[in-house]
Amino acid sequence: MKPTIGFIGLGLMGGPMAKNLARAGFPLVLWNRTREKAEEFAHESAGSDVKVGASPRETAEKADFLITIVSDPPALEEVLWGQDGALEGLRRGSTYIDSSTVSPDLVRKIGKTCKEPGVGFLDAPVTGGTWGAEKGELVFMVGGEKEVLERAKPVLEVLGKRIFLLGPNGAGQTVKLAMNLILALQVEALAEALALVSTVGIPGERLIEVLQSSMARAGVLDVKAPLMLKNEFPPSFPLRLMHKDIRLALELAKQHGLTLPAAAASYSTYDSVKKSSKDDPDYAAVARFWKKS
Ligand SMILES: NC(=O)c1ccc[n+]([C@@H]2O[C@H](COP(=O)([O-])OP(=O)(O)OC[C@H]3O[C@@H](n4cnc5c(N)ncnc54)[C@H](OP(=O)(O)O)[C@@H]3O)[C@@H](O)[C@H]2O)c1
Repeated sequence: MKPTIGFIGLGLMGGPMAKNLARAGFPLVLWNRTREKAEEFAHESAGSDVKVGASPRETAEKADFLITIVSDPPALEEVLWGQDGALEGLRRGSTYIDSSTVSPDLVRKIGKTCKEPGVGFLDAPVTGGTWGAEKGELVFMVGGEKEVLERAKPVLEVLGKRIFLLGPNGAGQTVKLAMNLILALQVEALAEALALVSTVGIPGERLIEVLQSSMARAGVLDVKAPLMLKNEFPPSFPLRLMHKDIRLALELAKQHGLTLPAAAASYSTYDSVKKSSKDDPDYAAVARFWKKS
């Protein structure tokens, strides 16, 4: 009999992750703020042991392992400390894994709160996007104790292909924020370069061809350049979340007396596009900054 997993947050990432756990035969108790998503998931998983929890608390009470993956720090605080919050429900000896991207401070606070009732806690943000979530090929950046990670591995290995233990609670989030900073800057640089060549009169496709053969070759060219060339931005990693991640990185740097000039400039570009977008685009839509008409 496999351990029961409480799973909170069935968004773009959480939905496919929970599906992989159900497919692997783990009994699941799901909770999502918009309850219909959880009910639909349970309906579609007929034949698997999938139930919908009444609240985050009840979901945690039933869990040997609790996983959360929600938008941002306020969402996670709501799920954990809000009415019928999950932290009240966690059982002694259970393991709690948070895979949202939030601040290192917040996950250290969660880690401290989990200590007294004897709950093992890992901050385990992910990279790999919705594609990685669907394929079970995410990469986990983990902060926490080695023994807790060993306990969690049979669950994480269903969801991911690489697991990096990076230090105590907060270390996973720190590396994740640093990594997303690079992606945010790469994608903005790509958008800027495309704006330059197309304004001068050279098709963007030609720039991409050359970049693919140069030292500037990078994954974002494969994944984000086609969206920019088509000017279509269906959300895979929504711009609102990248905007949040750059802000979290800037806040972390400020706490440590560090200036990040490129990140600060990039934040204002993402901020401007976020404010002017009426839809919920992918972060490749930062390219809209140069398409004012
Ligand atoms: N998308 C990616 O490619 C990607 C990659 C790596 C990491 N991440 C990180 O993973 C996390 C989830 O991303 P996602 O793409 O799955 O986001 P998403 O599609 O926007 O889903 C967000 C989830 O959080 C829930 N939520 C939002 N506000 C809440 C609140 N106040 N209380 C309770 N639940 C709340 C949403 O519930 P509703 O269904 O009710 O809205 C939904 O389940 C984020 O921290 C993101 O930065 C995303």
